[in-house]
Order: sequence, then C-alpha cells, then structure tokens
Amino acid sequence: MANFKEVYARLSEIKDPVTGETLFKLGLMKDISLNEDILTLTLIASSEREMSSFEQLTREALKDTGVKKIEINKVIKEIERPNLERRGKIKEKTIEGVKNVIAVGSGKGGVGKSTVAANLAAALSLKNLRIGLFDGDIYGPSISRMFGIDGLAPMVENQKMLPTERFGIRILSMGQLVEEETPVLWRGPLVHKAYEQFLYDTDWGPLDILIIDLPPGTGDAQLSAIQLINLNGAIIVTTPQDVSLIEVKKAVNMFRQTKVRVLGVVENMSYFKCPQCGTITHIFGEGGAKKLSEKMDLELLGKIPLYPVISESGDEGLPAVLSESDDSEIKRSFIELAERIINLLKL
Ligand SMILES: Nc1ncnc2c1ncn2[C@@H]1O[C@H](COP(=O)(O)OP(=O)(O)O)[C@@H](O)[C@H]1O
Ligand SMILES: [Mg+2]
Repeated sequence: MANFKEVYARLSEIKDPVTGETLFKLGLMKDISLNEDILTLTLIASSEREMSSFEQLTREALKDTGVKKIEINKVIKEIERPNLERRGKIKEKTIEGVKNVIAVGSGKGGVGKSTVAANLAAALSLKNLRIGLFDGDIYGPSISRMFGIDGLAPMVENQKMLPTERFGIRILSMGQLVEEETPVLWRGPLVHKAYEQFLYDTDWGPLDILIIDLPPGTGDAQLSAIQLINLNGAIIVTTPQDVSLIEVKKAVNMFRQTKVRVLGVVENMSYFKCPQCGTITHIFGEGGAKKLSEKMDLELLGKIPLYPVISESGDEGLPAVLSESDDSEIKRSFIELAERIINLLKL
C-alpha cells in the first residue's frame, strides 16, 4: 500500500529543470490524490517535450512507493517562471574569442531549424569564416547526428570543453554526451547551467560566428537561453503553412521583447523542383513567408527547397551543402543565405 504522506513528500521534491524550483512552488504540479494505490495529479508544462520530462521525473520519484498507477492530467500552456529575470545579469558576458553569436529559432519543432542551422554553418564555413555550432536543443539534440558525431564526447582541456571539429566547424551537442533515444532528464545540472557550461566553459574561439540552434517553441527554455547570451541576431525558420507562420509571430515577438535583433526569416521546404522537368511545385502553399515578412517588417532571408537529399545527408552525418555539387539548387540556396547573413553582420 502506498503511503500518501511519503508520496506527497517525494512529489514535493521534484524540481523544475529550468529554474531549479520545485514544481509545487511554481504551481506546475497540483490536484494530487491517491486512491487505492492509483495516483492522480495535474502537470502543467510549456511543451510536449517539457511535459514528458516532468512526467518522467514524476514516475521516477514514485518508484518503490507502492503506487501502482499514475494518471496524469496534462495541461500544456505558456507558463511564467518568476525568477527567470535573475539570470538576466549574466547577459553582459561575452564568449572569449567569439565575434558574433547568432541564434536559429522557430516557433515550433520539425520545421527544419536544425537542418538550416547545420547547412548554414557549413555554407558560412565554405566562405572561409571560422564557424562554431552549438546545439542548444538540449532535450532533443540533432546536430551531432547531422555531423556524424553522435556519442563522440568532447575533449576537456584545462577544465574547458573543446568543441569537436567536423569539416572545419567547431561543434558541441548534447547528442555527444547522451546516447540517441535516451531522453535527457535534467535534474541536478539545470538546463541553464548546461548552457552556461556549453557557452562559457568551452574553448570556442577564435570564431567569426557561433551559431546556436535553439530549442523549439517560445517558452522558458528559449528565454533562458536568450538571456544567457549576447546575441547579435536571430534567424527564424518556418515552413510556408499558415500554422507555422502564427508560431513565427510568437518567436519574432519573443526576440523583439528581449531586444534581440531579428535578422529575418528563412522559408524552409519552400518548394520542390522536379529534377527531370524543372517544374516547381509549392507543396505547402506559396508566398506565406513573404506576406508575413512584409507584415512584420522582416527580411525574407532565403527559401530552401524541399529535397529528400537534404534529409538523407542529415542522417548520414554530412550536411547537404557539403555533399552537393556547386550547381545544385540546394547548395545554392544555402550559399545565398550565408551571403545574406555575412552582409547583415557586416563581415
Ligand atoms: N528542406 C528540406 N528538405 C527535405 N527534408 C528536410 C528539409 N528540412 C528539414 N528536413 C527534414 O525534416 C525533419 C525535421 O528537420 P529538423 O531540422 O530536425 O527540424 P527542427 O530542428 O526544426 O525540429 C528532418 O528529418 C529533416 O531531415
Ligand atoms: Mg532541431
């Protein structure tokens, strides 16, 4: 038989990985009741991903308590974490030897943010710039896979991490530290602590640009990331569909509110050009990003076509920009994007 007092005590110790405060205190866990070894409770999180992290923490905390079943009422909504401001003070920090830091963000996952970040890094590197790439998607890292360095832990020298160099790009990804398919659970090392280490306890420099692949969404994970860094600009990735454009607005507003310069929008999976006949098909609709960029006074930085090879090369650990020939539509689209960025950053 599960003892309510013990169950309650364990639950009350579960900490929010972003702030280190208990879920209780933040009001993210409530309505707890135990009935015949069945526990019901409500969890509130800002995203599916965060919810699954909370859920796992909950399940782990209740191990061996006699609770036979846990029924969770899941509420996903935007949440405010009161002490996030406190961390703002670190913002003045700059990363030694790094001239520019730009973030690649989006309102939602699956739009190709990591793909764009990886290929943009490669394209900029082809322009003879010294490029670093930090996978800020701590819960769902994918940069390590795209560069074939999954599970390849970075070296440590003089208490500092050394980014792993691939094709001349210096990379750090959580995927180097955890095995794929293992969900990343943050408890002791909080997300922002991890960020601090990845950014400031790492020998990044000398770099012309450090690109950060931000986690998806517009919740606290991004906010805390943004507050940790002096960003020179942000690039927003979207697909042409309307739903994702609504998310873009949120992302743009988030950056603008935190006084980060939005460099512009990249429309990914913009169109498909038939390799045989050259016919262009706008699979997800046309002109959405252009309309949005006009409305929100944003530059449309580029349009990236939809091609299976982009996805395949990502899986093979060699970004398409590096595997494709010079006359490929894909390579050209990323090189043009890189040129835009170089211009905007006055490099
Ligand atoms: N332009 C594209 N053409 C074809 N596949 C793409 C393209 N952009 C992204 N993908 C694929 O879509 C999936 C999601 O992309 P990913 O970069 O992981 O998105 P996000 O980082 O936004 O979650 C991946 O399988 C990726 O290979
Ligand atoms: Mg990603």
